[in-house]
Amino acid sequence: MHYDVAGYRLRKPELSDVDALYVVKNDAEVAGMLGGFSTGYSKADLEAWIAFHREAKDEALFVIADAKDRAVGHVGLYKVNHRIRSAEFAIVIGDRSIWGKGLGRACTRFAIEYGFDELNLRRIYLEVLATNERAIKLYRALSFVEEGRLRQAQWKRGRYIDVLVMGLLSEEYRRNPL
Ligand SMILES: CC(C)(COP(=O)(O)OP(=O)(O)OC[C@H]1O[C@@H](n2cnc3c(N)ncnc32)[C@H](O)[C@@H]1OP(=O)(O)O)[C@@H](O)C(=O)NCCC(=O)NCCS
Repeated sequence: MHYDVAGYRLRKPELSDVDALYVVKNDAEVAGMLGGFSTGYSKADLEAWIAFHREAKDEALFVIADAKDRAVGHVGLYKVNHRIRSAEFAIVIGDRSIWGKGLGRACTRFAIEYGFDELNLRRIYLEVLATNERAIKLYRALSFVEEGRLRQAQWKRGRYIDVLVMGLLSEEYRRNPL
């Protein structure tokens, strides 16, 4: 099964994605926009990553694949909790040449609507570095609100960075026509 979003295909990760994900997930600039730290991924790490996420029962993770079926990133809902009806959202588009063209917005909308309409979630939340203006603008545009600020909760390039917790309740999500 797959979903067509903004000219891209959202589908489960495959072992054949290793080479493309090796590029996407080893981009230092992109990694610097995410929480935590990374020493990079070997191809074996990526095989394990793919196997793990294919099997995870509390996730809805999709690879974002272009017209040649090359993975350019991934988007998904993690820690899906059917009792609380909540999940954590995350997205990475690793090919910087396609930023700013609406793909992030379309994929984020897709994940939100998948969470509310398919998984029957009530709350979707995320963490974002307070310095990541592009992502914050995107989340605000899709009705996420800032729920809290974790002060100096990350350390990047020799300085502490605040982390924003943002959340979106199903009744707050304003659907706009495609
Ligand atoms: C964040 C990310 C998913 C956004 O994807 P994208 O395809 O570049 O985003 P879009 O083109 O859909 O733009 C979304 C919004 O970002 C904002 N934006 C775009 N370019 C921007 C820029 N140069 N500076 C600031 N904001 C910008 C705009 O508000 C835009 O909304 P608009 O179309 O209504 O104007 C993508 O850049 C990415 O993967 N970045 C690296 C990883 C990351 O930061 N992930 C999020 C971690 S929480």
